[in-house]
Amino acid sequence: MELENKIVIVAGGASGIGTAIAQLAAAEGGTVVVADRNVDEARRVASTLPKGDAYALDVIEQTSIDGLVAFVESRYGAPDVLFNSAAIWEMADILDATRASFSALFAVNVTGLFFLQQAVAKSMIAAGRRGAIVNIASQAGRRGEADSAIYAATKAAVISISQSAALALISKGVRVNAVAPGNIDTPMWQHIDKVFAERYGLEIGQKMADVAAAIPYGRFAHPLEVAQVAVFLASTRSEYVVGQTFNVDGGNILS
Ligand SMILES: NC(=O)c1ccc[n+]([C@@H]2O[C@H](COP(=O)([O-])OP(=O)(O)OC[C@H]3O[C@@H](n4cnc5c(N)ncnc54)[C@H](O)[C@@H]3O)[C@@H](O)[C@H]2O)c1
Repeated sequence: MELENKIVIVAGGASGIGTAIAQLAAAEGGTVVVADRNVDEARRVASTLPKGDAYALDVIEQTSIDGLVAFVESRYGAPDVLFNSAAIWEMADILDATRASFSALFAVNVTGLFFLQQAVAKSMIAAGRRGAIVNIASQAGRRGEADSAIYAATKAAVISISQSAALALISKGVRVNAVAPGNIDTPMWQHIDKVFAERYGLEIGQKMADVAAAIPYGRFAHPLEVAQVAVFLASTRSEYVVGQTFNVDGGNILS
């Protein structure tokens, strides 16, 4: 049991990779708080876990972040582990991108992730926890994306934030790492496929098929394949791993 008796927060746990992380963290003995803007789904996911709870989190609101930490502390004590998986994607190329889209994506993917990490780290440190934080970046943060320039910039920021946090917090007992997933079969990618279909007149499923064909492994990943690496990075098996971003992408990016 990798996370036995650990108090675990999964931000964005109501869907896709976050749900797979919540399920695996619970199977590994954690008490898991599924925190998501979509509270109905968060409750549904939490109800399937051996030890789980749900919280209506909107990472763009500091009061919501503070409320989550207060909820976890009062019910379970300070958290041991944070998985920062909440994010949004919008199509945006350099010439058409709008300020509204830029603000919306940075508010969730960067500002939200940063200040949730901050609030949870403060709680861990105040309680003397040996904590672990795993931020979910993306292969899109490793290189630009012509159709997703803003999203790619947010994910490059997540890699940088994870490195800075790792350096700042390791001496205080909190270990920070990140995962950079490649192409994962989740509701986010179903949405991306639909947006590409509308924009370029493709059949539904065509964009996913084209992308899958270009992955060295030859297919999209299942969310569990990302969750396994994320849980490894939160467990003592990776105790000496600090400030890294692990690619889980079927060979797309070699580093
Ligand atoms: N699916 C992929 O191929 C892929 C690839 C690389 C990185 N990622 C990253 O993995 C993470 C999970 O992606 P996914 O594919 O599971 O996406 P998803 O859309 O299936 O799930 C994202 C979850 O985040 C929640 N969320 C969005 N905005 C929020 C907010 N303001 N406050 C709280 N919760 C909010 C949503 O309600 C949803 O439950 C994201 O960080 C994403 O950028 C995904």
